[in-house]
Amino acid sequence: MIIVNGHKHKISEALLDKPLSQWLREDLFLTGVKIGCEIGVCGSCTVLVDNQARRSCKMLVKDAVGHEIITIEGLSQQDGTLHPLQQAFVDAGAIQCGFCTPGMVLSALALLMQNHHPTRSEIRQALKGNLCRCTGYQQIVDAVELAARIMYPETK
Ligand code: FES
Ligand code: FES
Repeated sequence: MIIVNGHKHKISEALLDKPLSQWLREDLFLTGVKIGCEIGVCGSCTVLVDNQARRSCKMLVKDAVGHEIITIEGLSQQDGTLHPLQQAFVDAGAIQCGFCTPGMVLSALALLMQNHHPTRSEIRQALKGNLCRCTGYQQIVDAVELAARIMYPETK
């Protein structure tokens, strides 16, 4: 059994050795999981596994059995309202082509769950494994700072 975005999935024997990224995209149609390099370098395939940022191209389905996965599709509400972190990426101008964005957002979310008010240096460190070929990193760091202020105002 694997829980993905709150839904339980039974896993057949035949799927166990499939890359997790491919299973999420091809079998569950969660195409927000982007496949770039497929060798663990670009971070575009990042998902949360038990709230830790993991590269799904470097995991097999069997590695995820018994764990809880969150993809970018699991962040927004049913009515389409974006998660505050997603909205912050929009508001900070941190998206161009958007290919890196799901992985960036999920890596940033893993950080913010651990550290409600990271410094810019800590944000850069947490996102160093996520590559963006368009936007540059300034606005992405701005977005994570903005999200922290919105998500955790009481602790500021
Ligand atoms: S596709 Fe997984 S790290 Fe690049
Ligand atoms: S917005 Fe295009 S790769 Fe980051």
